[in-house]
Amino acid sequence: MDPDIIRLESTDSTNRVALDAAERGAAHGTAVIAGSQHAGRGRLGKSWISPSGTGLYCSVVVRPELDAANYPQLSFVAGLAVAVTIDRIYGLHTGLKWPNDIYFSTKKCGGILIESRPATAMSAVVGIGLNVNTEAAMFPDEIRERATSLFLQSGRKIDIESLFVALRKELVTHIAWLETAGFAVIMKQWRQRDVFLGKRLEWLSVSGERVVGESLGPDDQGLLHVRSDDGKIHQILSGDVTLAP
Ligand code: BTN
Repeated sequence: MDPDIIRLESTDSTNRVALDAAERGAAHGTAVIAGSQHAGRGRLGKSWISPSGTGLYCSVVVRPELDAANYPQLSFVAGLAVAVTIDRIYGLHTGLKWPNDIYFSTKKCGGILIESRPATAMSAVVGIGLNVNTEAAMFPDEIRERATSLFLQSGRKIDIESLFVALRKELVTHIAWLETAGFAVIMKQWRQRDVFLGKRLEWLSVSGERVVGESLGPDDQGLLHVRSDDGKIHQILSGDVTLAP
């Protein structure tokens, strides 16, 4: 058993457990995996439904050689690492939705939540949630049309533990790549998987501003460019984008 892996049958949130571990000085690459979560956290204050047996819920403590101001870059690096791993093992073509959702065409298969605490300076936690063996009927009605799983994409049931081990390794490799090659190189790869490029998007900022326009994709800094109907280019730093109705 790897001493740097904390395996839990169930927990509130693997991100919370990993943040606690980081606070106690856990090393780069230390990971937490749980069979289920009862208070799984999503981006923008949403919750992440985490039933037992069908999903991968894990968090990795990272200590990148990066200014803390550049930690948002980790979202893109983690998304790319997840996509590369899935493609390599299962022969799929995994897409990415800005800033860090795992997609197949217009359906979400997973998401990433980066968190840090003031007390865990120089470290962050990369939380990864993936729908792995979920069957269509298992998704709640309200998301069934918009959600997918690796099972639904590949047609086969997947060993969650093997996927976790591979993902953790690839994440550490990708962070080392970011440190040596720089963020622009990561973004070049990321853009090749952009499922929303050229699509008409709606962006709702955290403060409630609404912009509708065509996605031009993210730039080398990770800012999403959207051209609204009046020709104005908006550079979006945060918030949520969806396909425009
Ligand atoms: C999102 O798309 O909103 C991000 C979802 C991230 C969910 C994962 S599951 C493992 C880790 N622990 C959490 O509480 N959240 C992340």
